Amino acid sequence: MSGFPQDFLWGAATAAYQVEGGHDADGKGPSIWDVFSHLPGTTWQGTNGDVAVDHYHRFREDVALMAEMGLQSYRFSLSWPRVLPAGRGEVNEAGIQFYSDLIDALLEHNIEPMITLYHWDLPQALQDEGGWERRSTAEAFLEYARLCYARFGSRVKLWATFNETVVFIGHGYITGSHPPGVRDPARAVQACHHVFVAHALAVKAFRDSGIAGQIGFVNVLQPHTALTDKPEDVAAKALADAIYTHWLYDPVLKGEYPAELVAQTQALWGVPRYAPGDDALLKENICDFIGLNYYKRETVTANPDKTSLKANHSGERNSGHQFGFKGLYKFVRNPQGVYTDWDWEIWPQGLTDGIMQIKARYGDVPIYITENGLGAKDPIVDGEIVDDPRIDYLRMHIKAIETAIAQGADVRGYYPWSFIDLLSWLNGYQKQYGFVYVDHAHNLARKRKKSFFWYQDVIKNNGV
Ligand code: BG6
Repeated sequence: MSGFPQDFLWGAATAAYQVEGGHDADGKGPSIWDVFSHLPGTTWQGTNGDVAVDHYHRFREDVALMAEMGLQSYRFSLSWPRVLPAGRGEVNEAGIQFYSDLIDALLEHNIEPMITLYHWDLPQALQDEGGWERRSTAEAFLEYARLCYARFGSRVKLWATFNETVVFIGHGYITGSHPPGVRDPARAVQACHHVFVAHALAVKAFRDSGIAGQIGFVNVLQPHTALTDKPEDVAAKALADAIYTHWLYDPVLKGEYPAELVAQTQALWGVPRYAPGDDALLKENICDFIGLNYYKRETVTANPDKTSLKANHSGERNSGHQFGFKGLYKFVRNPQGVYTDWDWEIWPQGLTDGIMQIKARYGDVPIYITENGLGAKDPIVDGEIVDDPRIDYLRMHIKAIETAIAQGADVRGYYPWSFIDLLSWLNGYQKQYGFVYVDHAHNLARKRKKSFFWYQDVIKNNGV
């Protein structure tokens, strides 16, 4: 018997920059990723999303594949500069038409759209004005959100404002590996505050618009385990929880920052700086649901030694991944752990535990698992893509969700990452996640993987 509710949504996810291509088609403006990925040395072997998997031109074929797989919901993001090329002001009707047609195609196949408004591709024009460090970007986001509600709100019920603040702010303003390539934690904290303001403004506008739907926020779910029970490792683990979870979830689920941590950033750097009314704005506009993106856990130790931000972008296992900040914490290899080629630990129980930790801290907020998947170089045997490791990964994580539901969590949907092979931001096209393979040597032809048929079955049997 299935442990999933009858109305549980079996979905899959993508994001605009990673699939669409058409980077300058039909009046689209440049995004920060269009510019950044063309700077030498920023991405794996110079890969970029100029063409991506050309979903912009092939969405009908892709939606037909979704329908064949039996998908009940599709999570995708809108490219802000495709609909507002300069970030605000003049609307690009061709961009609106693209999303309108995509939504209609999904609905024709009874696939429920879930829209993410911001999956990292800020209009470059807004970055030129200072991007998320400027409060005016939050106001531009409100204009963009209102436009999308007006054009798509009668057809789309599930909305998320932002995807993974920890990644686009953390990498954009602390490690510098995402645009705008800054390394300054004080600027990160202020930029992050403007994202929360933008979110709250967009939630308020959503409710004012009367759309019969729900609006939420998508965060990384990253459980931490201390390597040892030494007090310094336990303290480092608690700090990682505070930064990666409490800092990013509290403002959207409780409407306030975690007091202890904010006292520290205020003392150190005088940030975040609030405008009058920000407190009330956050408090009055908490989410209808939370989206959780779960891939891995991190094992944590104290870090008296040095800051190292080295990541594995090559897919060569154990190729020197080291991440940590001197005096705070570092992430180390779990000696018992099972790892992917990109050194991400595969730990399904972390999904159950993480969901239950969110429930314990934030109460009965509805949850969607908005991403979860295995990045791998898939084996091809006699022309077939035999992605058994992906099937195993997803099977174990579906089971982990079922366990959380049995323990009382209100999980309403599952969106594996990703529907189709796509561009991994810093890791190129060789890091595959999809149910559908894209042949880059043969005109981006689509091919169903073994996992496609497996997931078709999962959906048919409501997770059994
Ligand atoms: C999430 C993002 O961080 O993880 C996706 O929302 C991303 O856009 C996914 O592709 C997997 O990460 P990566 O680095 O392997 O592409």
